[in-house]
Amino acid sequence: MRFLLMRPAAVAATGALIVPIHSDGGAPAGLPRALRATIERVAKAAGSGRLYGVTTHFGTAPERIVLVGAGKRADLTPERQRRIAAAGVRALWRAKVRRIAVVVDESLGTAPAIEATVQGVIYAMWRPESHRSKPEPLPAISTVGLVASAVPVAAVRRGQAIGDAVNFARRLANEPANLMTPSNVADEARTLAKATGLRCEVLDEKRCRALGMHSFLSVAQGSDQPPRLVVLRHHGRAGKGYDLALVGKGITFDSGGISIKPAAGMHLMKADMTGAASVIGAMGAVARLRPAANILAVALLTENLSGGRATKPGDVFTSMSGKTVEVINTDAEGRLVLIDGLTYAQREGARRVVDIATLTGAIHVALGDHFSGLFGKPDAFVARVLELSRGAGDRLWPMPLTDEFRDEVRSDIADLRNQAGRHGGASIAAAFLDAVIEDGVEWAHLDIASQDWSDRDQPHSPKGPQGPGVRTLIALAESVRGG
Ligand code: BES
Ligand code: MN
Ligand code: ZN
Repeated sequence: MRFLLMRPAAVAATGALIVPIHSDGGAPAGLPRALRATIERVAKAAGSGRLYGVTTHFGTAPERIVLVGAGKRADLTPERQRRIAAAGVRALWRAKVRRIAVVVDESLGTAPAIEATVQGVIYAMWRPESHRSKPEPLPAISTVGLVASAVPVAAVRRGQAIGDAVNFARRLANEPANLMTPSNVADEARTLAKATGLRCEVLDEKRCRALGMHSFLSVAQGSDQPPRLVVLRHHGRAGKGYDLALVGKGITFDSGGISIKPAAGMHLMKADMTGAASVIGAMGAVARLRPAANILAVALLTENLSGGRATKPGDVFTSMSGKTVEVINTDAEGRLVLIDGLTYAQREGARRVVDIATLTGAIHVALGDHFSGLFGKPDAFVARVLELSRGAGDRLWPMPLTDEFRDEVRSDIADLRNQAGRHGGASIAAAFLDAVIEDGVEWAHLDIASQDWSDRDQPHSPKGPQGPGVRTLIALAESVRGG
């Protein structure tokens, strides 16, 4: 898909013009007068102006005008701008138009506005119906004219890299567990690494055992699918060590293990590898954007099943950190795999580590559908991640992680237990991870179990995987330049 600068007069020759309409503003200035009059008329007739609400008007030049509710002018954020573009393009899914134009509101600055718009367009090009016997037609859009004062090349490149990374994570999360096994995810990582120039290593069970990753392997032992640990490296500066490590939970299917889950909704546990898909996708963008920093990514891939060799509640394992873990609940497996990934990243020389995981149902209860939980230490680093997430167009919310929660994960017979009281489950999980973070290491944990999958269609996105957090990971990688 090509993105180019388009003069207002040229929009008449496109198949569709996408126009954001603010509830407290009229047709965008700069468009030809007759077109503005049409837009005003259609907007008025359409009424509501609901945020991301779409109204399509059929005419001649251009053939279609797609109005998208953009909310109040002052409330515009990068996230909204991305969703506005996505809602407009999504409305053209079956329209067979090849050339479109998008009016870009530049109030957040030209470069961020272009980037968010490009992201939104790419976001809307992905669809979840990958296994129809009669394949869905691919979207026809090949040229996107951006109606703006300028179209900075770097902003387009960032928007494309980020959009592709988010769609990568969504595609892998959407695939069923029989077709996206740990080995399949590792193959996807290898393919991405080859295409973008990342260094990629895939560790098998034997290598993980030699490293002492018995906490990770305790989850894998109930499944016939061999586990995989994917390591991706971007070296953007001279010298050793890593300025940032990304660690992703990659449970390709979470049945709960012996502490088996109820049947209702269990099929969605195919997406319990979203964290892994997110760090792999983000590394693809890192490779394309080449920040002058060393970035490491670790994806821990396994199924959580209840085979004859599966972990039993009460079993004890020694993690790579040396800390011992009593497995109270085999369904609290994410934290078991993550602690070994976090330790591996620190042993590789990362002093700044960010993990991302569909970790707890509790985060969904706490924050609802539209925010992901942010934990970590020290506070200054958490604040930095939060600020970056806002600019990147994600919605994180800071959650408590204090000594009371750390006390709760103490085991009666080992160092740690993987489940504690019923309340504050997301903070308890974070406290468990915290136990393997070494002194002086900056760490953030993103619990995306609230946001990774949407149960309903939204104007900007079909129901299914959403790819939260990927943008923040990329922004982080770009922000740690030079250490
Ligand atoms: N993968 C789940 C968390 C999850 C639940 C993600 C729903 C997305 C939607 C995780 O492995 C899990 O099962 N967590 C348990 C922890 C509990 C046993 C301490 C949970 O949240 O119930
Ligand atoms: Mn689980
Ligand atoms: Zn899980």
